[in-house]
Amino acid sequence: MVESAPAFLRVLRGEALAPPPMWFMRQAGRYLKEYRDIRAKQPSFIDFCLHPEDACEVTLQPIRRYDLDAAILFADILLIPYGLGQDVRFEKGEGPKLSPLLDDGLMRRLDPDRASKVLAPVMESVARIREGLPADKALIGFAGAPWTVATYMINGQGTKDPSTARMLAFEKPAQVKDLMGVLVESTAQYLISQAKAGADALKLFDSWAAGLSEDLFVDLCLNPNKEIARRVREETDVPIIYFPKGSGALYERVAREGGFDGLAMDTQMPMRWARETLSPHATLQGGLDPLLVVQGGKPMLRAAEHLLETFDGAPYIFNLGHGFVPETPPEHVAELVKFVRER
Ligand code: CP3
Repeated sequence: MVESAPAFLRVLRGEALAPPPMWFMRQAGRYLKEYRDIRAKQPSFIDFCLHPEDACEVTLQPIRRYDLDAAILFADILLIPYGLGQDVRFEKGEGPKLSPLLDDGLMRRLDPDRASKVLAPVMESVARIREGLPADKALIGFAGAPWTVATYMINGQGTKDPSTARMLAFEKPAQVKDLMGVLVESTAQYLISQAKAGADALKLFDSWAAGLSEDLFVDLCLNPNKEIARRVREETDVPIIYFPKGSGALYERVAREGGFDGLAMDTQMPMRWARETLSPHATLQGGLDPLLVVQGGKPMLRAAEHLLETFDGAPYIFNLGHGFVPETPPEHVAELVKFVRER
């Protein structure tokens, strides 16, 4: 059974493979012409994500182009706020805009049951993708981690500075706790549904885990995601990857106490330290700076080689430290995939 499982899943379960399995964050998206062509037909990004045929097609696009080990469901972390009843829009060039959460009592009307209904098309996408995906490739389902989703819900828009949310955690801790409770509940349900629909692994994106004190990090990042993992494991046995982006030395606590199957590393991670300190506790994934793939050539390949050498003999999944940017030349991705495969 283990022998025939996709390489990605074997490694996530603790096996070391050479070359390591690989996939890329944001492997589907604007850097691909075939994505832009389909995207142009749907004015609303949310409607696009909730359209199973289109979501399935764009999920499979990078798999057709490159020899990758996993597909990641095409969706977005802001589908949960949308499902809960918050208005979410993606304005061209400006990123997401969400309706005010605190001023008009919306907070009290957020409804996890509504989210399950509104997000049902995502489960149809998952089932379709799994059907269209070769058996040796894994399908990754995902959600935003509660704190990261909360920062968007509280700020009302994409921002480089999540301090509005952190301020609220000091000013109105009870309100933030309530919001986190709603998000843990709806995110666990959403991920369980994805696993039941056919996702082989699940990933929690905590893109705004940076900048929190240790106590806040434990309250807002580590514990809520542990709780989600606990609930998911009560109902399914799919492996779970956590990405506490930018959390620095707190990664060590996550590795020791989190019990996640996989930990995704950001670009600033000291890789030798990660190998020694984190690797004994979880499969590691990622680390390559996505801007190196814009650059391509020797600098990109040298950095890839460094990752491969550092994690040689450990359960490791090759990936980026954050998603591809729209400027990424697809030929550079092809060069990178070939390099890792043929090493
Ligand atoms: O290929 C994949 O990785 C799967 C699809 C995926 C998307 N978003 C599609 C998307 C995934 C896994 C995400 C996660 C996501 N979304 C995160 C966590 C990872 C990270 O990047 O930190 C976050 C913070 C979001 C929120 C989000 N979605 C923002 C801030 C934006 C606007 C900025 C941008 O990159 O455009 C999005 C939009 C979005 N999500 C796009 C895609 C392909 C671009 C929308 C478009 O096509 O117009």
